[in-house]
Amino acid sequence: MGKIGVFDSGMGGLNILQALRSLMPTYTYCYLGDNARVPYGNRSFDAVYQFTKECVYNLLAEGCPLVIVACNTASAKALRAIQQNDLQQWQAELAPKGPTLRVLGVLRPTTEIAGNLTRSGHLGLLATRGTVESNSYGIEIERFFPQITLHQQACPLWVPLIEEGRLHGPLTEMAVNECVEALCQRAPSMDAIILACTHFPLLTPVIRRYLPPRIEIIEQGPLVAQALKNYLVKHPDIESSLNQGSTCTYYTTDDPLRFDRNASLFLQENIHSQRFHR
Ligand code: DGL
Repeated sequence: MGKIGVFDSGMGGLNILQALRSLMPTYTYCYLGDNARVPYGNRSFDAVYQFTKECVYNLLAEGCPLVIVACNTASAKALRAIQQNDLQQWQAELAPKGPTLRVLGVLRPTTEIAGNLTRSGHLGLLATRGTVESNSYGIEIERFFPQITLHQQACPLWVPLIEEGRLHGPLTEMAVNECVEALCQRAPSMDAIILACTHFPLLTPVIRRYLPPRIEIIEQGPLVAQALKNYLVKHPDIESSLNQGSTCTYYTTDDPLRFDRNASLFLQENIHSQRFHR
């Protein structure tokens, strides 16, 4: 036991992992990318719940008392159900004598500080279709900041393009332009946009080209890392169950060589992942 697990549908969660490791380098991390089944963004509630449930369970069983669901789509569509339906049973099965198992997502760290992100009260959100259709961000932001209007735009083609390594080129430009333009037209007073998908920060330079310079682009990695740091200060019992090994193990449900190659788009280091078998 003792590792911080980070789960994503594919490579995108490496952005979150990197932010966690740069703010809290001494912990031991374990990353699992469900590359065999990415993208999650266009899938049904049931499929996202089943896939997320399997992966989160595997990370807990692998020795991670704390799992971060880095994927927005999974956080939006599956996290609450896992916390309510499954966690108690997993606790009894995997760690009956402790430590307490925790599964946290990326929505809350983003939505609870939404009030600091906009002055105009009009906030944009770019995400997968699943995240937008769940309206999880809309519900959470309304709860914390009812005065903020959230303008959401689904970008269903972006994740497949990024997973293919297409960060530039005419296809990517077209896909980005179409969504950014649609959002800007609907929300002329918007002054900030949240990239509510772990993959999207890789497209920041392209997104920037189609956005008026006054609109700020908000990436989630630093927000999630700071929120986890605060959480661990408030929960010393959980903090004390974590190892201080300063290392990370990488797992993928698909081809490790492909994962290692594509990881170089996200990380400034070479990694050697393993295929996850259970
Ligand atoms: N990483 C997921 C997210 O943040 C999206 C990728 C996918 O569609 O699987 O929403």
